[in-house]
Amino acid sequence: LREHEEFTKVKNIATIELGKYEIETWYFSPFPPEYNDCTKLFFCEFCLNFMKRKEQLQRHMRKCDLKHPPGDEIYRNGSLSMFEVDGKKNKVYGQNLCYLAKLFLDHKTLYYDVDLFLFYVLCECDDRGCHMVGYFSKEKHSEESYNLACILTLPPYQRKGYGKFLIAFSYELSKKEGKVGTPERPLSDLGLLSYRGYWTRVLLDILKKHKGNISIKELSDMTAIKAEDVLSTLQSLELIQYRKGQHVICADPKVLDRHLKAAGCGGLDIDVSKLIWTPYK
Ligand code: ACO
Ligand code: ZN
Repeated sequence: LREHEEFTKVKNIATIELGKYEIETWYFSPFPPEYNDCTKLFFCEFCLNFMKRKEQLQRHMRKCDLKHPPGDEIYRNGSLSMFEVDGKKNKVYGQNLCYLAKLFLDHKTLYYDVDLFLFYVLCECDDRGCHMVGYFSKEKHSEESYNLACILTLPPYQRKGYGKFLIAFSYELSKKEGKVGTPERPLSDLGLLSYRGYWTRVLLDILKKHKGNISIKELSDMTAIKAEDVLSTLQSLELIQYRKGQHVICADPKVLDRHLKAAGCGGLDIDVSKLIWTPYK
């Protein structure tokens, strides 16, 4: 389906059951035609297979042996874990995840070509298993230096800092690759808010600590945030002046403090020493 067609489609699935949550959906998602008559779908929270009836799900749960997303656990800190799922090795899981995510993503084209993507699935783990909180996808090879294609925090988990955690994680992967990155466009309103918040806090933290001049290129190299995004963020904070054909950062300490107060806290931090990962080859 092309993006335009998706916009004009009527939302059919109104609610989903996933783990202990019943979640109201936001947008149309192109599930296979045999699901056209459903208003509710029942997901296995581990393999993400979906079913029309509760009894089918209950039967499935008795024999499904997954207790976490398929793939490698690349990060664990307390009860928080991140799994890397290769769309080529776990095609059905990748497709199920895309169907599920599209219910909450308006403007994105759904990729059936999950082979080309890695999925980073964030989970809260307890003695019953690892429960998906959200995820982001990433192209294995991006010409446009995209380090994130789609990002989602499931509605029951939103506004708790997981989105910023996922964004921060995507930049930690870019740092390990020795590259700068940027999210695929367009961004949703909530996506833009989250990114603006993340960029603002990371850049202000550095400017606050740094003594002396610093360039946009240096900030970009330190953070893996693409130079254009560094510039647009600093411009929106009115920390950029244009002198003799060049953008110059003017970081007045009082202005920085005012912005930092407004930017709020970082939320869930990543302990980079707990990230065990090598870039995709
Ligand atoms: N109203 C106002 N501001 C909000 C809201 C909201 N409902 N939700 C998030 N924000 C802003 C806030 O500024 C917040 O920072 P604050 O809490 O310090 O004020 C910031 O976003 C990030 O909040 P988090 O709790 O870290 O983010 P969350 O876990 O809610 O996830 C996300 C953010 C992923 C964008 C989520 O809203 C979501 O999944 N939305 C639906 C899918 C989507 O739009 N994804 C982005 C598409 S663009 C792309 O994929 C490249
Ligand atoms: Zn299952």
